[in-house]
Amino acid sequence: MRRCCFLWSSGKKKKALALLAVVCAFLTACQGPREEEEKKSIRIGISLYRGDDTFINNIRSELEEKAKEYEQEHGIKVTLDIQEAKGSQSTQNNQVERLISLGCDVLCINPVDRMDATVVIDKAMTAGVPVVFFNRQPVEEDMNRWDRLYYIGVDAKETGILQGQLIADLYWEQPDRIDINDDGVVSYVLLEGETNHQDAMVRTEWSIQTLKDEGVPIERITGGIANWERSQASALMEQWISSCPDTIELVVSNNDDMALGAIDALERAGIEGVNVVGIDGTTPGVEAMENGKLLGTVSSNKEVYGSAVIEIAAGCALGEPLPQEYPLTDGRYYWISQEILIQDLEG
Ligand code: GAL
Repeated sequence: MRRCCFLWSSGKKKKALALLAVVCAFLTACQGPREEEEKKSIRIGISLYRGDDTFINNIRSELEEKAKEYEQEHGIKVTLDIQEAKGSQSTQNNQVERLISLGCDVLCINPVDRMDATVVIDKAMTAGVPVVFFNRQPVEEDMNRWDRLYYIGVDAKETGILQGQLIADLYWEQPDRIDINDDGVVSYVLLEGETNHQDAMVRTEWSIQTLKDEGVPIERITGGIANWERSQASALMEQWISSCPDTIELVVSNNDDMALGAIDALERAGIEGVNVVGIDGTTPGVEAMENGKLLGTVSSNKEVYGSAVIEIAAGCALGEPLPQEYPLTDGRYYWISQEILIQDLEG
């Protein structure tokens, strides 16, 4: 009976195995499309170092816009969770934890303290969630901790060189437009961003170096840190106007907002003709340039900025190869292009 049963079950077993093989083949064939179906929506967690920074707000609008475009073009629902860290790294660390617990597939982080992205990276690595940092560049040691960390931003040295070139080109075309008192020396003041920010240190160095390399006779009157802020820059400029009356010919600013602060102080003091140069090409910066108040700026391509962050993040979230339109330097850095914008001096 047992033997018989074995014979019977052996025959059945073959059939069962054959059937199983067919079922397996069918399931394998189905697997690809089914996995794709699971990826019809992605969740992107974003934390901004501050919500009241003009340039970061311009980038935020682009991120929202590009996420919508991505949805339409790819038929994938994109949910953005945007948080503002109000200048506190510990607040940002908590936000990262929350974004991970909400099920974000990828994080886009504008770090508060770019010198210490350790906690953010630890949390992301533990959860297996890739991170696209932007605008505030983490130190190389942190970036090298994991191969799923990326950085998108502008090249600070290039920005500085372009700002120096903007001024130098104009000086050589119309020297008295820059050396306004015509004494053979351009006397300038310098407005700097946050102390530890790569964009402040490197922009300052290369802007001034380029002016020297281009042979512009310059003399620094004074300078100070205004942390990217219009009101702080305005207060500094007010002091300089009263401590060095009738000497300032040029204001070199690390960003547009501080340049606008300097313009506010000049207007309050009723001073005309001093040249003010910024960086960023923010909405109010470009407006001031069009109104003849700001001499010029170095503008980063904000549309590409938004697309690069969203598309690289989406690639990470979907586990797909990253988009080829954004070739990465050293496998993790994407640099946004920039251009010089200058007032219409003819008009
Ligand atoms: C700089 C920008 C500043 C400010 C800062 C914030 O690149 O020029 O205006 O937004 O980033 O990190």
